[in-house]
Amino acid sequence: MFDDKPAPGAGRTMAEILAARLSRRDVLAGVASAAALAAMGPARELGAATTGGLTFKEIAHGADETVHVPEGYRSDVLMRWGDPVLGDAPAFEPRALTAAAQAKQFGYNNDFLAFMPLPLGSANSTHGLLVVNHEYTVPQLMFAGLQGGEWDYQARQTKAQVDVELEAHGLSVIEIKKSKGQWRALPGGTYARRISMTTEIAVSGPAAGHARLKTSADPSARRVLGTLNNCAGGVTPWGTILTAEENFDMYFAGKAASEADRKRLDRYGFGGKQRYAFANHHARFDLSKEPNEANRFGWMVEFDPYDPKSVPVKRTALGRFKHEGAGVTLAPDGRAVLYMGDDQQFQYLYRFVTAKPYDPKNRAANRDLLDSGTLSVARFEDNGVLQWLPLVWGQGPLTAANGFESEADILIDTRHAATLVGATPMDRPEDVDVNPVNGRIYAIFTSNSNRKIEHENAARRPDPANPRGPNPFGHILELMAPGGPTSAEHAAPAFRWDIFILAGDPRVADVGARYHPQVSANGWFGAPDNCAFDPRGRIWIATDQGNNWTRTGTGDGIWACEVQGAERALTKFFARMPLGAECCGPCFTPDGKTLFVAVQHPAADGVGLLDFENPVTRWPDFKADMPVRPSVIAVTKKDGGLIGD
Ligand code: FEO
Ligand code: CA
Repeated sequence: MFDDKPAPGAGRTMAEILAARLSRRDVLAGVASAAALAAMGPARELGAATTGGLTFKEIAHGADETVHVPEGYRSDVLMRWGDPVLGDAPAFEPRALTAAAQAKQFGYNNDFLAFMPLPLGSANSTHGLLVVNHEYTVPQLMFAGLQGGEWDYQARQTKAQVDVELEAHGLSVIEIKKSKGQWRALPGGTYARRISMTTEIAVSGPAAGHARLKTSADPSARRVLGTLNNCAGGVTPWGTILTAEENFDMYFAGKAASEADRKRLDRYGFGGKQRYAFANHHARFDLSKEPNEANRFGWMVEFDPYDPKSVPVKRTALGRFKHEGAGVTLAPDGRAVLYMGDDQQFQYLYRFVTAKPYDPKNRAANRDLLDSGTLSVARFEDNGVLQWLPLVWGQGPLTAANGFESEADILIDTRHAATLVGATPMDRPEDVDVNPVNGRIYAIFTSNSNRKIEHENAARRPDPANPRGPNPFGHILELMAPGGPTSAEHAAPAFRWDIFILAGDPRVADVGARYHPQVSANGWFGAPDNCAFDPRGRIWIATDQGNNWTRTGTGDGIWACEVQGAERALTKFFARMPLGAECCGPCFTPDGKTLFVAVQHPAADGVGLLDFENPVTRWPDFKADMPVRPSVIAVTKKDGGLIGD
């Protein structure tokens, strides 16, 4: 949701950087041999070929009030902000919102989506649970009377409004069913659930109980009220959901009393403009009163959607940063491996490997698997090697001399630890997901307006893994673990990496874009963010340009392409969002016949003044008495076939 300011491409010097990368490709091809590469063994084979390509007729760049999908496809609105989730939810009354009603209704700004088949463990593609993150709120579009100056509406917000916002965050779990080709939601029932900023969440792992997590409301440091700014997420092999707390800093106001606390909070972006009115009405969001409350957010949260009574858990072993999401897979020995991005300019890419293997025969045995293991951070070497640097207390600089008294300190101040061990600062790491067909990992970097060729800090200049400075359009890297597609050694200490796509308009030389050479005038995109893989292993890329869509001339959407073969990186435009919306959470049913998409913050980005009374679109209802509503859509093929074929 951050806006990166656009900037022209970097021309000549960028060409030099790309030239360096190309020589590295020669190294990978065996022209020269680096010791590190040799140690990794032979290059792995790709998985089985996919298909003859994507056959849909791509849609056009542009921007208007509604959703577009290709001919032969349909998109149906499945859940809207305010729709009932719990069985006793009241009807949506947009001019009379209450926290009590919102606590039972679908929240705001849907982001991550997971389709969890019913029953658990099946591949049912017509009946399951839809799990949805509600990342943040846009008060000016939710409540009447808040339009006006950029941030001054906060001072006018009532406690009743803030309490609605607390309930509009978090997650929804709702049963959905497809019959006669049409999806519908079934509110209530066994699994329906809302998780919000008033839900009790447990804390586990090495930082649970730590002094820096204690507050006046929770001296145990093991019970937090709520989960916040849940952006993307992941699904574990044991059928639980991971939900990522991303921009947690923006809900807090005030200044911590101690210089040490302020310094640590600065590392996470605290201290900027107040963006929410939470602290005006709830003391726990005021850093001058509860400085430790901020340490209780920025975690990855796990919960079991199949057990509506289960207590969600903040898994501190996974580190504290602006978690974007988690790509989860298994190493050949059964240990679970999570790939995670920290979405801010010049932040890092992480990997977590569990200490114990996943037990496929005993679901309960995996309950606390994510509480112990090794968190590592990525260093991208110029020679195409990716080193995973472990963040282990007592090793290298991670000692008391640098302020780390225990592993818990490393996990609370993960960014600081990652910097000390020499991680590579990246261009806003967003989704990092594992392609189930070729076993490769796709890491998405959305943009970075502040990477500069002449930056005074050498770590903030372009490098082979972030080759453009500034980088307004983002890029996608392909990471390759040693081993074959079905036996990739995801826990190995070193991988190989390469560039998959450099986004932006390939017709403008200064942009320095790179796709398949035949990409069409509609096939290029900017600011990739989330992705999904269909059953054939093709990648579906969702974008979040922020305000910059006004410069690219197209709304956000989904672009799809093959990852191998003759049409590798030949991206085609598949779905376009309404004005001001970001496209999130692409998620397929196991049969690949439905693609769920989250349409987040329609009428918000790049549209000028935000006004409840006069939004630039009233999607999806288009009724004068209904506000614009973030919603989830289900995209299907009219002939019932596979999406993309
Ligand atoms: Fe919430 Fe990084 O997007
Ligand atoms: Ca995102």
